[in-house]
Amino acid sequence: MSSSDSEAMDVVKAFHMKEGVGETSYAQNSSLQMRVVNLMKHITLSTIVDMYIATTPTRLAIADLGCSSGPNSLTLIKEIIQSVDEACHRIDRPPPEFMVSLNDLPANDFNSMFLGLSEFYKKLPWPFYGRLFPTNSLDFIHSSFSVHWLSQVPKDLFDENGECINKGNIYISPMSPPSVVKAYEKQFAEDFNLFLRLRSAELTLGGRMVLIMAGRAGRDSWGNGITFLWDVLAQAFSIMVSLGKVEEDKVSKYKTHFYTPCVEEIEEVVQREGSLVIDKSEMFSTSEMLRRTNGRDAARSIRAIQESMMVSHFGEGVLIEDLFELYGDLLQKKMPDAKFECFNLVVVLRKTH
Ligand SMILES: C[S@@+](CC[C@H](N)C(=O)[O-])C[C@H]1O[C@@H](n2cnc3c(N)ncnc32)[C@H](O)[C@@H]1O
Repeated sequence: MSSSDSEAMDVVKAFHMKEGVGETSYAQNSSLQMRVVNLMKHITLSTIVDMYIATTPTRLAIADLGCSSGPNSLTLIKEIIQSVDEACHRIDRPPPEFMVSLNDLPANDFNSMFLGLSEFYKKLPWPFYGRLFPTNSLDFIHSSFSVHWLSQVPKDLFDENGECINKGNIYISPMSPPSVVKAYEKQFAEDFNLFLRLRSAELTLGGRMVLIMAGRAGRDSWGNGITFLWDVLAQAFSIMVSLGKVEEDKVSKYKTHFYTPCVEEIEEVVQREGSLVIDKSEMFSTSEMLRRTNGRDAARSIRAIQESMMVSHFGEGVLIEDLFELYGDLLQKKMPDAKFECFNLVVVLRKTH
């Protein structure tokens, strides 16, 4: 590598606008650039609208190069989308699918750019329970440990008075009444059907999708390792209640939006949706792996995936620290002798029409 090559690499690695949204951030100190972009907006918007009217593509792909962090890039993109939408209305055409690509150097603070624009989130769905990519634009989709997260805590877990029908539990437990299992099954069937329909529209014909997720061995196999982890977390919560560290009422409303389907349920939803076939589905046991995990490490893993939801429900504070300390101790004691099976599923799907 020549010295000029390595200097170029340094710029690529090191150069970025001041990250975050603090006083000295680019996000808070780029209104001058936005003013100039606004001054030129009539040129930008008329260029794209004229181009759209001349060609009326069904997909409009837009790229902003050097988007940086802060609101500028997405503010302009939002106006571009609105202008094209208005033009469609004028010429009586359905709006195109928008594909927006943002480019910047690797050290750019993409996160704070997105976080700062909650209004934009409302307009464009980011969760995978909404459309993400243009029609027929993907040949292969991979998703691991994500599709077992539901779009929401099942509404049917709460009765007409807002009381939870799964008291004392966070997830389905051996103590849960059948109506709790039904509520989760129903939510998963709806969500997974929607997920398949949306991804199928985005896949090319013959395109494949590999999904890896937590699962269970069969319809009635609830005594699995994941359920065990949630059960012990519920026990830790109940000890926190008895110590007066958190209100029982608050705990009774804390439920997880998680579900472990079995292969049969997946097959039913795939068949009902109708545009994909299952090329392969396998269930593999991770029981030994979990049994050999140190209880405190297992507690840290659950903390890493649940803390954001807990903070949003209970607020910041010592509760989370104390709860996970206790949870780690309980798991450490219980895991070596606990009887559970822990399964994961892999499903390979192909779009047939
Ligand atoms: C001053 S900011 C402008 C941000 C935004 N477009 C605006 O108008 O407010 C310039 C951005 O260009 C990015 N940039 C500079 N060189 C680049 C390169 N070679 N490739 C991609 N992005 C680059 C920087 O990281 C920075 O985020």
